[in-house]
Amino acid sequence: MGQNDTMEYIPSALAARLPAPEHIRRLFASVPRHRFLPDVMWSPDRTRYDRAADPEAWMRVAYSDQALTTQRDDGREGGMGIASSSSSAPSVMARMLTTADLSPAHRVLEVGTGTGYNAALLCQMLGSSQVTTIEIDRGIAATAQDALHTHGASPTVLAGDAETYAAGRPPAYDRIIATCSVSRVPQAWVRQTRLGGRIVTPWAPTPGAPGGVLAVLDVHAERAEGKFEGGLSFMWARGQRDPGGTPPPHQGALAESTDQQLHDPRGPWLDGERSLLLSLLMPHWKFGMGMEEGGTEPYVWVASTSAEPGWARLHADGRVEQGSGRRLADEAAAAWEQWNRWDQPDVSDFGLTVDLDRGWQTVWLHGPQHALWTMPRET
Ligand SMILES: C[S@@+](CC[C@H](N)C(=O)[O-])C[C@H]1O[C@@H](n2cnc3c(N)ncnc32)[C@H](O)[C@@H]1O
Repeated sequence: MGQNDTMEYIPSALAARLPAPEHIRRLFASVPRHRFLPDVMWSPDRTRYDRAADPEAWMRVAYSDQALTTQRDDGREGGMGIASSSSSAPSVMARMLTTADLSPAHRVLEVGTGTGYNAALLCQMLGSSQVTTIEIDRGIAATAQDALHTHGASPTVLAGDAETYAAGRPPAYDRIIATCSVSRVPQAWVRQTRLGGRIVTPWAPTPGAPGGVLAVLDVHAERAEGKFEGGLSFMWARGQRDPGGTPPPHQGALAESTDQQLHDPRGPWLDGERSLLLSLLMPHWKFGMGMEEGGTEPYVWVASTSAEPGWARLHADGRVEQGSGRRLADEAAAAWEQWNRWDQPDVSDFGLTVDLDRGWQTVWLHGPQHALWTMPRET
């Protein structure tokens, strides 16, 4: 099979596998993903794909339903290899495009141009004149613009920080689709969206929390509001990567109290679904793993991201240590009790209101009238 045949064939094979409505599948069938990918990229298990060294493997992974890292460590050499730009997994892109509920007359702002592949899909659907895409990394924006032009699409490609883009200008978009995660929905996004429009964005309470959710926010006067539509993990908007707050407890940190439990207390924190739920039930924390000197099993640490400090350490042998200030392990236990009393709601029963007047965001359960907790929306 020659390269032209490969291009014809593979996008439609990928499209056919996507759990998406027919009109979204058709988009994926008509835009060749590989045309937007760099010669070197990494799959989620950190395998490196080099087009020159193994063109077949490179092409195969290009048409797999995987997120492909296209830049690491903001493009700096010698880092830890942390993904800073990627082509998102096609099924995730399809889910977001479906949720955005686009119609032909819509004007759309995409946040995070990355490779340009999603922008190309949007152009295919709406026409290039309806699409603006913004990317914080100038080099990435320029490469994406070239790829888009080669493909025959000409959206407006902007290099800049979407958190502050066009703040103060009248609303220009019917939809904003963010392809990077935020905890504080930028004021500029709400102001840039027309009344009745929609913001679709990955959201999580802090970058130190587990995973995240897809927030689907409808825009009203001075307010954006809507439900979380299931779990979704994305790389963070550059300006929101740092969760701040109490640093993780260091090796010798002395606990104010130590309780002994009968079971391993780490369970809910290590289970992706449970810990995601906990991040919605109990605000302002981050977590990670550590190892005691001479230990064989890692402990889970939890630390406060609010102004009130606090930390907890949960060990496989049942020890629960808590530092002074916020009693995070006790807060979590109370949150789970509450969750049981509420009949164990699912992630999709929660939602978010972004209130520009008051300058805060509120997480709610079963509708905006049932507020759970509020955080300042600082940008
Ligand atoms: C998952 S990638 C985007 C994938 C892209 N939509 C595609 O189709 O390839 C996230 C992108 O968001 C960009 N980004 C992060 N923070 C940003 C910000 N504040 N403004 C604009 N772009 C941002 C990153 O540089 C990265 O390229």
